[in-house]
Amino acid sequence: MKKTSVYLVLVCIVLALAAYLGYSNLFPQAEPPYDDDQEGLSGQIVFKFSHVVAENTPKGQAAAKFAELVAEKSNGKIQIVVFPNGSLYSDIEEINALKDGQVQIIAPSTSKLGELSPKWGILDLPFAFGSHEAMQRGIHGDIGQKLLESLQENELVGLAHWSNGFKQITTNTGPVLNPADLTGQKLRIMPNEIIREQFRLLGVESHEESFNSTYNLIEAGKVDGEENTISNIYSKKFYNVQQHLTISNHGYLGYAVMMDQNVWNQQSDDTKRILLEAMEETTAWNDKNAIKINEEQLALIKQQSDIQIHELTAAQKQQWAEKLAPLYEQFSGEIGTDLLEELETLQESYKTTP
Ligand code: LMR
Repeated sequence: MKKTSVYLVLVCIVLALAAYLGYSNLFPQAEPPYDDDQEGLSGQIVFKFSHVVAENTPKGQAAAKFAELVAEKSNGKIQIVVFPNGSLYSDIEEINALKDGQVQIIAPSTSKLGELSPKWGILDLPFAFGSHEAMQRGIHGDIGQKLLESLQENELVGLAHWSNGFKQITTNTGPVLNPADLTGQKLRIMPNEIIREQFRLLGVESHEESFNSTYNLIEAGKVDGEENTISNIYSKKFYNVQQHLTISNHGYLGYAVMMDQNVWNQQSDDTKRILLEAMEETTAWNDKNAIKINEEQLALIKQQSDIQIHELTAAQKQQWAEKLAPLYEQFSGEIGTDLLEELETLQESYKTTP
């Protein structure tokens, strides 16, 4: 071979090598480096479930139970990885994180869904449900179903309602027995129009802050107190920084478990079936477990702290209900008469006959 031909062959080899290396950098053929997001590559389906409360709460335990049932029913093929305590996203961020595909399942408090539809406010009306039984009929009946269906307008799939229970009031400026006792107090509340208006009627200065900032806000004296269920008060140790706890049962706190519509649609029929079956079992289990946890943790608060506990009498409760009754009329347009009429029928059917 001539010298020039040898050079030509060499140049061709070098060019071919360079082209190959450039191509493989743009479209790497090798296995990507391992990180948590790659877990699904081994044939497993992984769903990240983010929530903001502690593990020893109704939502925390229901999420764990759901993960266990899904793993069992899918023989380990579908894995639900639960991130509690707002370790991934705060309550203020979680809906966007779901929409952006950062997580696949969330269970925000229904009080935080007003930005999706004002209809959710039906569950925030003061004294909407007079008992656990009435509440469960509400959230698992027509009212709850219509609310879950309304999520479709935002391309979300509502899988279930998980109750926590009824909200109580804690404060350092107490005791709180009559509606007037809250006048002038500063309370941390969830971002919610009806709750904001409820406390405006009571003369309260509301601070709409994330759930996991509540303890610090109280400890720093930025707020006097807050409203929450016993399980949230216990698990986040609010009772350690509060002097008074009023058992008022004045409002409902529960969750809508949801997924993004696109993510849901991408699942096989078998995966959907497993998720729905596990969700149904978890929801029935949670109905009982939530009541149990709140009762047990009230006993623990009594044992472990000096917080003064005040239980509203029937007459005091009546005063609160009357003071807050105008909210039903005020929000009727936003909530819609169909849901309000259903709630009224439910309330009527639970009125005890004298
Ligand atoms: C709160 O913000 O107080 C609650 O919604 C937290 C929760 O998810 O129970």
